[in-house]
Amino acid sequence: MVNHGVPADIVKKIEALRHQIDKHNFHYYSENEPIISDTDFDLLLRELQTLEKQYPDSIIPESPTQRVGTTPLSAFKEAQHLVPMLSLDNAFSDEEVAQFAQRLKQRLYQESQSDVEHIEFVCEPKLDGVAVSLIYENGVLTRGATRGDGSAGEDITQNVRTIATIPLKLHTDNPPSLLEVRGEIVMPLAGFESFNKKALQEGQKVFVNPRNAAAGSLRQLDSRITALRPLEFFCYAAGMIENGLLPQTHFEQLQQLSRWGLRINPLIESVSGFEACLAYYKKIGTLRAELPYDIDGVVYKVNSIAEQEKLGFVSRSPRWAIAHKFPAVEQQTVVEGVDFQVGRTGVLTPVARLKPVFVGGVTVSNATLHNIEETLRKDVRVGDTVMVRRAGDVIPEVVAVILANRPAYTDVVKLPEHCPVCQAEVIKPEGESAARCTGGLYCPAQLKESIKHFASRKAMDIEGLGDKVAEQLVDAGLIKDVAGIFTLDRDSLVNLDRMGEKSADNLLAAIVNSQATTLQRFLFGLGIREVGEATAKSLAQYFGDLQSIETASEESLQAVPDVGPVVAAHIAAFFRQSHNRELIEKCCAAGVHWPIVERPPASQQPLIGKTFVLTGTLTSLTRDEAKAQLEQLGASVAGSVSKNTHTVVAGEKSGSKLTKAEELGIEILNEQSFLVLLKKLSPSSPT
Ligand code: IVH
Repeated sequence: MVNHGVPADIVKKIEALRHQIDKHNFHYYSENEPIISDTDFDLLLRELQTLEKQYPDSIIPESPTQRVGTTPLSAFKEAQHLVPMLSLDNAFSDEEVAQFAQRLKQRLYQESQSDVEHIEFVCEPKLDGVAVSLIYENGVLTRGATRGDGSAGEDITQNVRTIATIPLKLHTDNPPSLLEVRGEIVMPLAGFESFNKKALQEGQKVFVNPRNAAAGSLRQLDSRITALRPLEFFCYAAGMIENGLLPQTHFEQLQQLSRWGLRINPLIESVSGFEACLAYYKKIGTLRAELPYDIDGVVYKVNSIAEQEKLGFVSRSPRWAIAHKFPAVEQQTVVEGVDFQVGRTGVLTPVARLKPVFVGGVTVSNATLHNIEETLRKDVRVGDTVMVRRAGDVIPEVVAVILANRPAYTDVVKLPEHCPVCQAEVIKPEGESAARCTGGLYCPAQLKESIKHFASRKAMDIEGLGDKVAEQLVDAGLIKDVAGIFTLDRDSLVNLDRMGEKSADNLLAAIVNSQATTLQRFLFGLGIREVGEATAKSLAQYFGDLQSIETASEESLQAVPDVGPVVAAHIAAFFRQSHNRELIEKCCAAGVHWPIVERPPASQQPLIGKTFVLTGTLTSLTRDEAKAQLEQLGASVAGSVSKNTHTVVAGEKSGSKLTKAEELGIEILNEQSFLVLLKKLSPSSPT
């Protein structure tokens, strides 16, 4: 019998630890807001594990240590649902939602009270995962089941027990004798992507989308495998309750379930009237691409339980709810060809030419295959049926091949030996996933891309020199390198297709305008490998002038924040090439210039690469003054504490930032020691 022979004080200690761990698990997994550090959490868990090992009789199934999975089953048992698990009726347009609201009004008020306009709704994201039913008996999770045919599903208790967002025990001392809850198990996108990546690398089966991945993970007979999958749970309804009370609105019921430790989606809202539902649909639609999990619509539910009961059900769906669907972000289509596009740095990117398909709100006929290794790993072939995904503004990609639909004769995609644009040799260095054309700027494809990049908004910002014009300029032979932009003349411009005199004049004016630039923009525009906007800024700030960067050794380049050995090697290699130095000279001779950055030399910026955070009230100087002084010494000043913070300056009344710094073991300076540091480091002070 459990707890036999376990001393009472140990039982008490174990119970307290379990309670604490459950609470922290909830804060961490369900609320995304841990209140203790990972280390402290691990200490609590280890303490419990040690005690349970010492007193095995104390182990109970709902202990937080019992989530790792257990011996495999031979088959899933059938799980009869206490109340049928229904599905939802769908609406695909605003009109259909309006009709739904009209039907509700008719049934609830028989139109006799036409002034009763505003039905209360609860609006929820419609999660694209697997529906589950969970049963808690006297507060302890005793069964998890899939929906199945709605009246009976499969008993997946061992598997749901491994999911951290599903409490093994309700957070109450007074639980109902029976509580059934319903919700969705999803695999978040990041987890899905890393799972598939690993599966591809190991030659294992990939899943076509996060929903299949969640379903496949729950269908494992070995719960130790499920335990390794990144699954999460969101509760969206109470199913049945015995010997306990739930509030009389759906929204309040969800709040009650949340207090019991069940995770409720934070985007759920209660609103009044169907127009507010449509506004919610719009709002969630714009958030959709940023959400960490897939949703395929929103659900509107009548809030009042009394009204829900009055409305009842029709066939297999409730009359009181409807799913308002979003356009699908995934569709199947056929690969009609695979081409290789040449980018700015010569990288060859395989692109699948697709049978046009409407996905994510647009018609897609091309999808990136990223690189040749990825193409081979996914084994995408011409003729294949593939799953294409386009979420938000992200470029469409081929997620997976539907192997069952592969035609009899298909060929593996081959990397071309010669550049499809300039015929130069293609190389693929050992250990790199990218293959490159060796044609450099002689390759028209690379030249076009480098001109587009040089003229782009964050580089030289030449308005009117967009993709089309850059391509025309190269195709017409008017430009051989980016410096050629500054010697373009009006006559050749006006001869270009669809370039009127006015556009030509505007473009020439924009080119002249762009010549007064900054070192950071010019550096970024040069398109040095691995030098993005932030690195260009760091280089400009650190060195102050271009000549010092050109002549810097790899070693000194690495002193710049964020520049590691690889980036330093690329920068040094770029400036070793005489044609690159000549290009820069040509640009400058043609009028490109930037102000000299007045910064103390690097030797007088002892805090370079260090990130400070200021918190609390400083008495002898303002925050802005403190920030300016730190920046003058080379430091960056950030707004929040993270593991990348080096030092926190804590004035009076410092709050959560100080606590976090303490937890992370970051150096903390009080105002006094901060002033001492400034004095010691400032250039004017005697050394
Ligand atoms: S309520 C009686 N709420 O959509 C109503 N369902 O077609 C039961 N789903 O199988 C469902 N998010 O798996 C409800 N916030 C949500 C939902 C949701 C996703 C799924 C659920 C169900 C399907 C209905």
